[in-house]
Amino acid sequence: MKGKNILLCVTGGIAVFKAVHLTSKLTQAGANVKVIMSQSAQKFVTPLTFQALSRHDVFIDTFDEKNPAVIAHIDLADWADLVIVAPATANVIGKMANGIADDMITTSLLATTAPVWIAPAMNVHMYDHPAVKRNIERLASDGYQFIEPSEGFLACGYVGKGRLEEPEKIVTLVETFFNRQERKTRLSGLHVLITAGPTREKVDPIRFFTNRSSGKMGYAIAEEAKKMGAYVTLITGPTSLIPPKGVQVISIESAEEMYEAALNYYDKANIVIKSAAVADYRPKIVHNEKMKKQEGPLTIEFERTTDILHELGKRKNHQILVGFAAETNNVTEYAKSKLERKNLDMIVANDVTEKGAGFQGDTNKVTIISREGKEKVYPLMSKNETARAILNEIELLLQGDEQ
Ligand code: CTP
Repeated sequence: MKGKNILLCVTGGIAVFKAVHLTSKLTQAGANVKVIMSQSAQKFVTPLTFQALSRHDVFIDTFDEKNPAVIAHIDLADWADLVIVAPATANVIGKMANGIADDMITTSLLATTAPVWIAPAMNVHMYDHPAVKRNIERLASDGYQFIEPSEGFLACGYVGKGRLEEPEKIVTLVETFFNRQERKTRLSGLHVLITAGPTREKVDPIRFFTNRSSGKMGYAIAEEAKKMGAYVTLITGPTSLIPPKGVQVISIESAEEMYEAALNYYDKANIVIKSAAVADYRPKIVHNEKMKKQEGPLTIEFERTTDILHELGKRKNHQILVGFAAETNNVTEYAKSKLERKNLDMIVANDVTEKGAGFQGDTNKVTIISREGKEKVYPLMSKNETARAILNEIELLLQGDEQ
């Protein structure tokens, strides 16, 4: 992180002392650190402490323009390669979630285009409060990344979740972040085949069976893979989404059409990511004409569709094959058995009963399991961040295969 510009926004909680430590660690690692403190943060530690450790002026007032040549909050916002809000109180999280900009920190946060990481620290009940949860969810879907608080003794006397993550861990995350940015992506020039959205299984010309998949996860993966330099083919069921620019789009309706399209592109693909919610069953008889209602109940017989992923797994030669497992219970156990059964290299599992995870929303909370059985549990993130996490894991697999 040598030479990287990190803007540290310190808000008022007892964990401010850890932000002092964080400033010291980041500076020692070679980063340029500038600090903004809220009014309440200054009740815990004086700006002088941060000034001495960062060797920069500390910013505390939007209207205290130290350099007449620039507007301080815009200048700081533009200067930053990464912004970290640590500790982040419930109050600043609430303000950010609502776009409020009433001090130096919140105006700078609105002005920056750099990635912003939020490291909450507060009492366990405050962290669990529905308003705080709602705000965190909204910020996650806006693309903010959270450094989840850890569990342990809290200054308020409680034991629970709410401790600011340890500065050493935050420094490691920052290092990983900058290392990844600088590395040429391993996906450049590779062909990534992605399936997304629901399928529709017809029963007659005007009726079909489908599911609640929005396609957002698959579209986010397509967008991020494209940004990483991949050649992307997106096989999509019906969604209301606009496909990302520069991506080849193949629109299909039924599981069978998705299967055919996937087979067509399979040999050329280096990486296949099956995020589509494919129907497992379709009506056995598809009526050519509209079914007329009759007296009494209606019985429709269903038959199995092709398990596309299973078929691709059987035909796998050079491809990296990634599946999804949306579960409501025994998530990792079921996911691992799908990984084995379908001959996958990686599976992305999520518990769709968890708040913010799964269908339709803008966020997801996943566990990525590799073929070696390694499990990585990710916090609640936007679907684009989840997509990046999945693609980064694929890069690691590619790296492993090269060695
Ligand atoms: N999948 C597929 N073709 C199907 C059904 C599922 O390719 N006909 C893929 C999905 O795209 C996903 C993975 O398989 O990547 C897991 O889907 P899921 O429906 O959860 O798994 P199933 O194997 O159908 O298991 P179950 O219904 O028992 O949970």
